[in-house]
Amino acid sequence: MMRKSRVERESNIILALDVIDDNVERMVTRCLDILEEVAPFICGLKLNRQVLLPLGLTRTRETILKRARELNLPSIMDCKVNDVGHTNVEIARRYFESGFDAITASPFVGWLDGLSPVFELARRDGRGVVLVVYMSHRGADEGYGQTVVDEKTGKHLKQFEVFAQRAVDWSADGAVVAANSPDKIRMVKSILGSAVPIYSPGVGVQGGDALTALRHGADYLIVGRSIFGSTNPREAARGMLRSLNPPAS
Ligand code: XMP
Repeated sequence: MMRKSRVERESNIILALDVIDDNVERMVTRCLDILEEVAPFICGLKLNRQVLLPLGLTRTRETILKRARELNLPSIMDCKVNDVGHTNVEIARRYFESGFDAITASPFVGWLDGLSPVFELARRDGRGVVLVVYMSHRGADEGYGQTVVDEKTGKHLKQFEVFAQRAVDWSADGAVVAANSPDKIRMVKSILGSAVPIYSPGVGVQGGDALTALRHGADYLIVGRSIFGSTNPREAARGMLRSLNPPAS
């Protein structure tokens, strides 16, 4: 779904609409305004819990998700599912029923009675599961970057390399790898090949460079504050897209 949108809209930018406002009415209006302004320059929308919690699932569905659907923009819920299977699958079901096309999930949970029911549900309903493989904050190295030993081969690997292989084995619909760690993007890409696309957050405010991330193997850029936090989100989105696809001279 995201791939189709990327091709049709000629953009690989996914807007992370992490607007914060204590006034819920204002938050909805602002989210809708920004979405409208930047829609021509993005291929998808990502929401996070800081918007979903104050709005609630029903309101989110009836406002932001409804408009995203009208604009033909696929949406991802960045919930990083991270519990045991029977609760994971209920969480996933709620998000899918509300109209999200995909959710993010943490591979630390594992497959059996962990993420397997989530993948089964997603397959049945034609939705996506995107695995978090390497995060963008400084502490990411403490977990995702630790060295682990493969029990079968005795080989020393990085945790995120194991997660990248899981993304392939589980036929995940995407792998999140931080834009501000282009070396990790390259390493993950060598494991994923073309089987699983890379979604890269951490562009701009978190220090990642969009073009560098793409050149190292990212397929999509997840961008929040550099767009919606700008004084002119439309121009910020347009400028970023243009910097990635400069017009032929
Ligand atoms: P900014 O404002 O920094 O927001 O462009 C980035 C968005 O992406 C999310 N984010 C991540 N999501 N793994 C993820 O799954 C990550 O490593 C990661 N880093 C940032 C963040 O929640 C925000 O919506």
